[in-house]
Amino acid sequence: MQSVNIIVGSQMGSAEYVAEQLAESLEQQGIQVKLHEQPVFNDIDQQDTIWLLCTSTYGAGDYPENLLPFIESVNQQIDLKGLKYSVIGLGDTSYDTYNYAGRHIDDLFISKGASRVAERLELNILDEQLPEDTALAWLPSWIKSVGL
Ligand SMILES: Cc1cc2nc3c(=O)[nH]c(=O)nc-3n(C[C@H](O)[C@H](O)[C@H](O)COP(=O)(O)O)c2cc1C
Repeated sequence: MQSVNIIVGSQMGSAEYVAEQLAESLEQQGIQVKLHEQPVFNDIDQQDTIWLLCTSTYGAGDYPENLLPFIESVNQQIDLKGLKYSVIGLGDTSYDTYNYAGRHIDDLFISKGASRVAERLELNILDEQLPEDTALAWLPSWIKSVGL
């Protein structure tokens, strides 16, 4: 059975909380899950797993700081063929650079040959009182579409 590795990019904790809630729910459903709050590329399994990349956007469309070493490692990879991934992005539509980190990480994984197993979920913090609730409501359809 496939596991899920949740990789977190978060500056102030919102994306981290979304990721924690999803991890808890997946676990309760008997799905093996690992949460990476300070992700180190080489420490994360790539076989029989889906990488769920859950990141906010900071600065002017930048990745959160805790994600930068991971992104650097992904940039250095020649080929991520066979790696399954999916993205959740948290952002704020009052920025021109809305959800750029989520969009850029999605493009980056595609450019390395990884397989996107579901459409990106974008959470606009202006619409979401509790982004974790929206993510939890979305989770069953995600589980179904990725075949867990
Ligand atoms: C200084 C600052 C810069 C931000 N820049 C962006 C941005 O460029 N694009 C965007 O979509 N959201 C931006 N945001 C909104 C955050 O992505 C949003 O509040 C998110 O929920 C924060 O999640 P986190 O607590 O996990 O870091 C910014 C927020 C702050 C405080």
